Amino acid sequence: MTDTSNAVTSGNKFKIGLFAANCSGGIACTTVPERWQPTWENNVTLARMADEAGLEFMLPLGRWAGYGGETDHNGTSFETIIWAAGILGATKRIIAFSTLHVGLINPIFAAKQIVTAEHIGGGRFGLNIVCGWNADEFGMFGIELGEHDRRYEQGEEWLEICTRVWTETEPFDYDGEFFHLKNVRAEPKPISTPRPLIMNAGGSAAGLDFAVKNADFLFRNISTMENAKADIAKVAAGAKALDRNVGIFTNAYVVCRPTTKEAEEYHHYYAVENADEDAVDRIFTGRGIKDNPDLSDDVKAQMKIRIAAGNSAFPLVGDPDTVVQKMTALSEMGLAGIAMGLVHYVEHFPYFRDEILPRLVRAGLREEVPND
Ligand SMILES: Cc1cc2nc3c(=O)[nH]c(=O)nc-3n(C[C@H](O)[C@H](O)[C@H](O)COP(=O)(O)O)c2cc1C
Repeated sequence: MTDTSNAVTSGNKFKIGLFAANCSGGIACTTVPERWQPTWENNVTLARMADEAGLEFMLPLGRWAGYGGETDHNGTSFETIIWAAGILGATKRIIAFSTLHVGLINPIFAAKQIVTAEHIGGGRFGLNIVCGWNADEFGMFGIELGEHDRRYEQGEEWLEICTRVWTETEPFDYDGEFFHLKNVRAEPKPISTPRPLIMNAGGSAAGLDFAVKNADFLFRNISTMENAKADIAKVAAGAKALDRNVGIFTNAYVVCRPTTKEAEEYHHYYAVENADEDAVDRIFTGRGIKDNPDLSDDVKAQMKIRIAAGNSAFPLVGDPDTVVQKMTALSEMGLAGIAMGLVHYVEHFPYFRDEILPRLVRAGLREEVPND
């Protein structure tokens, strides 16, 4: 058996993955003509480039419908387990995640599909658990989005069932609050031990607790560096109390050009002048930002730009040295790494690979990629 459960934790101090390449627009909510088209060809080209460059992972967005607007942002998307299986079949080292909504996918079906994809990848598979927030998408399945913290309780049962499917060799019944299952058995088992890598994307206190108890990594949005520091401290304390190891990744968008002025101009061009306003507005409203009385108009305006630029991700904008300084600050704060978006992944990745990755090696945050 290969222990790949810690694959993302080994090696590089600051890990880097690509986020949302399975969806139209990726994380950039923009109308610019070069916005991302998630064709299969584009996904495979990107995955192979990322694999050769030594990136740790590809992480898809679990999306079922778009946000409307001129581009119907994210309206075209590949389902994430089959996407991951295809990416794994086309690559050698990189981990592919799947992002699954526990309220929408039966855990037996999910556990079986995950094992299938994980075998295709020789163990290189990760599961990103999301408990859901988008009532419109749940409506497509005829399922009501349950009360907030109950969704995480359902998530715990769901993951417990998957874990038992992956590890138990005798048939079992499961009689929980959300799931009632009879005579459950499944072979083969995952290649990774004790189970595939688990990440959880949650923004609330319940989401953080879920990760501390159940996941290898919490995938957390950074609003401010102060909040991020507080989250990191909470996760570290919670994990220590349970004798667990839980790392934190954040989502980031990268705009890197030879000069910071050029990077800022491109950022302004795609995220301000050419934002997909209606789609941005739908995200802004749907996430409860618009009606949040605790946020000033200035903060809301900044948050809108971050939605357009990278679906609220952390901005890494500047010349290569500036971007590396910002990454160094994230690492020093205690983050394990980032899942990043680029406006056009295939066109913009080579500059990132050639200018940022060698600087990260010199900064001691990453190692040279070994030749095969
Ligand atoms: C980095 C990141 C990635 C996320 N990816 C997805 C996703 O692919 N699909 C989805 O429905 N929700 C996604 N979410 C939403 C979270 O699962 C979660 O619902 C949201 O952060 C609100 O947190 P809460 O549910 O704990 O209140 C993501 C959140 C973050 C921070």
